[in-house]
Amino acid sequence: MKPTEAGERIELLKKEIEEHNRRYYVDNNPIISDFEYDLLLNELETLEKKFPEFKNDNSPTNRVGSDIVKEFAQYDHAYPMLSLGNTYNEEEVREFDVRARKGTNKQIEYTCELKFDGASISIIYSKGKLFRAITRGDGVRGDDVTLNVKTIKSLPHRIAVPVPEEFTIRGEILMPRPVFDSLNAVRENEGQAPFANPRNAAAGTLKLLDHRIVSSRNLDCMIYSVLADSLPYSNHFESLMAAQLWGFQIHDSIRLCKSIEEVISYIKEWDKKRHSLPFDTDGVVIKVNDLEAREELGFTAKSPRWAIAYKYKAEQVLTKLLSVSYQVGRTGNITPVANLEPVLLSGSTVKRASLHNADQIELLDLHNGDMVYVEKGGEIIPKIVGVDHSYRNLEKKKIEFITNCPECGTLLTRNEGEANHFCPNYLHCPPQLKGRIEHFVSRKAMDIDGLGEETTDLLFSKNLIRNFADLYDLRADDLIPLERMGEKSAANIIKSIEASIATPYPRVLYALGIRHVGETVAKTLATSFRDLDSLMAATPEELTAINEIGPKIASGIIAYFSDKENIELINRLKNKGLIFCQVRTEATLSDKLAGKTIVISGTFSRHSRDEYKELIEKHGGKNGSSVSGNTSFILAGENMGQSKLEKAEKLGILLINENEFLEIIGEY
Ligand code: IVH
Repeated sequence: MKPTEAGERIELLKKEIEEHNRRYYVDNNPIISDFEYDLLLNELETLEKKFPEFKNDNSPTNRVGSDIVKEFAQYDHAYPMLSLGNTYNEEEVREFDVRARKGTNKQIEYTCELKFDGASISIIYSKGKLFRAITRGDGVRGDDVTLNVKTIKSLPHRIAVPVPEEFTIRGEILMPRPVFDSLNAVRENEGQAPFANPRNAAAGTLKLLDHRIVSSRNLDCMIYSVLADSLPYSNHFESLMAAQLWGFQIHDSIRLCKSIEEVISYIKEWDKKRHSLPFDTDGVVIKVNDLEAREELGFTAKSPRWAIAYKYKAEQVLTKLLSVSYQVGRTGNITPVANLEPVLLSGSTVKRASLHNADQIELLDLHNGDMVYVEKGGEIIPKIVGVDHSYRNLEKKKIEFITNCPECGTLLTRNEGEANHFCPNYLHCPPQLKGRIEHFVSRKAMDIDGLGEETTDLLFSKNLIRNFADLYDLRADDLIPLERMGEKSAANIIKSIEASIATPYPRVLYALGIRHVGETVAKTLATSFRDLDSLMAATPEELTAINEIGPKIASGIIAYFSDKENIELINRLKNKGLIFCQVRTEATLSDKLAGKTIVISGTFSRHSRDEYKELIEKHGGKNGSSVSGNTSFILAGENMGQSKLEKAEKLGILLINENEFLEIIGEY
């Protein structure tokens, strides 16, 4: 490869890896398997070694991915949170052993532990009490999720036996499989998207802003290290056994291995046994046990030289591709799905696999009747990862991506730079119409009970509804004749539809399903435009003048209100009495903070952070997530984040303490 080509490839890989880091650590919604991710990272590492002129400190080969989000206070880690070198083969585990012995000139004893698949956490204990819990973040500093972590029952809040004055516990927050299954069942029932796997569910839950919801999710935590400036232990195993006595949960799969052969048999043993654990594991972590030997071995920029992760490769099977069908999503997105000859994979029968998009089909060069490799990664839907070409013959025809919508026949479009095709027939394509109704009735929108996907489908197919305004014309008599619908359920649905008329304006705005207007944007819009008419009259400039509203959102809003059919729907909703303006109900206490953007930082004694957020909104103010020129003042508690403090000083922004704030809103 020529240096210019290498430079370009390196840039491309870096961008791609950053994107996958964001999807994994921030969105908790990865689209590739760990194995595929590691392949990209390996390629980048190899190229950077060969062409060092293109390597810089900012490369993902030098840094760990970051999970930091703006809503939490951030703190530095007393000990950096690094990642682990990965391998998928036995040979490299042996090479690791050779390096470790060479580096120390000693025979090495290893601790083998399972690699728990969740979200890593660092918890500081001070004077025997749980003081602060921080996510991995970017490895140097992370988000303060103490309140959420305190909901985990297997973590002691207070330790009754003598312990070091200050120490840090590191572990993995997990969502046990049974908890995950029931959470997803509830979510699907409520019309919410299910979590793809327990890791995403655990990481997503850890970052929720309401610790009461976190508490209901029953997270668990497995501990894998104890750190302190001086610990009275000479090895890792001993320190974990001590932590167990202090009340921490150390999984009993942990084992001391005297040789690399014992390590290899541990890996083999747990490849089988791990499937019967109540939580997910994706490998084994092999650690040099002796702490002095660890010091001799040291660290690379990203990971310790005294540990390595052996990762189990996802199980694969070969089966026949029968056909490809295409699904149309709520927003018109087209997803190709492979229909397969049923085959047993990791304990369940697989009949369908996701193909993502046209590029993926092209990349695999899929032909009808191909024998394909199917893999179950962390995702619910398995995917096709390769084709066995030895079964291919000339009669087999290449899969051509469809040109027209399978539901309404409209010519599909694909925006520049986007991976997905979509159906532009926003107004009449049935799945899009149904999708918008499902969104309208969902819990965070109009919260109408009894109208799950199945019932909406039924109402739609019987021509009883074509859009969400039709819901308000339904009568119990229309519903009673439907399958599996008794008089009581029909009456309940009608009651819930009627009750939804009182839904507050921001939620109605969200329910309309305007492109790019999610829950938060809807709230912002409702604060800036206190009724729908003024929002409808807003120009793009007026919209983008609002903090948080960019050109993409603005054009979604303008396009929505330029459509005659949308205006008709809104008029029908208005006639039914739905609320399209901010009303001063219990939810609005005053407008003392109107026009103010307030950033909360630190911890408080008279109300929780969530309660302060609510109070700000109830008094007409807006919660800002980061300190900027738009911040009116900072509601500053104890231990305010250092970076926020520095920024506030630089910009000359006022800090107001808890009591002063309560005085402003008249609660003192
Ligand atoms: S030890 C220097 N032990 O794996 C890092 N990590 O890439 C030392 N993990 O995000 C980590 N199970 O959260 C260690 N038994 C275990 C683990 C474990 C899961 C996670 C950890 C980190 C990642 C390392």
